[in-house]
Amino acid sequence: MTKEGRKARHVGILISGRGSNMLALADAVRDGRVPGAEVAVVLSDKPQAAGLARARERGIETLVVERTGRTREEHEREIVSALRERGVEFVCLAGYMRLLSPCFVGEFRGRVLNIHPSLLPAFPGLDAQRQAIEHGVKFSGCTVHFVDETLDGGPIITQRVVAVLDSDTEETLAARILAEEHRAYAEALALVCGGGYEVVGRRVLRKK
Ligand code: GRF
Repeated sequence: MTKEGRKARHVGILISGRGSNMLALADAVRDGRVPGAEVAVVLSDKPQAAGLARARERGIETLVVERTGRTREEHEREIVSALRERGVEFVCLAGYMRLLSPCFVGEFRGRVLNIHPSLLPAFPGLDAQRQAIEHGVKFSGCTVHFVDETLDGGPIITQRVVAVLDSDTEETLAARILAEEHRAYAEALALVCGGGYEVVGRRVLRKK
């Protein structure tokens, strides 16, 4: 329930590691920056993900669903039912290091969000910050987008730009982008949970 007594919109966050974006989302929800939302569960495919303990410290339920010894379908089916049992409406991928199958995407169509550390469609996939430096771009940033069947290719909800400095290493650039990721993800989740948008073709437009 929300403070206003309305039924909260449940968000599930999938992680595989550190979980700083997950924490940024959890803090935004706690501080009322994502009105009407509640983080119902933080789920990891890796038992050693550092983010799990940090979620528990905030009183959020955590769950580990490992892939080992199972097909992708079996693994995802278990994740989908865990999310459904908790009434999850929106799924946020926050450093979740597995590709989701079309089945998973179909179960939550238009309700799965991902954050990527580049200005998509530039530099999809792994090591986006290294790709940006090696390519020599002067600006990079981050993108929050809806997840569809393509790799980092769904409709873009929001982006933030970060300058690439001559002195940047992959690490310094990643750290500057990460600070923007935390702001962008909370803002995008608030927009999506609040329903104040429409998707026209590939464009996510703010409703007037
Ligand atoms: C972030 O850079 C995110 O954009 C990418 O993976 C990283 C996860 O970091 N998808 P964290 O676990 O949220 O700290």
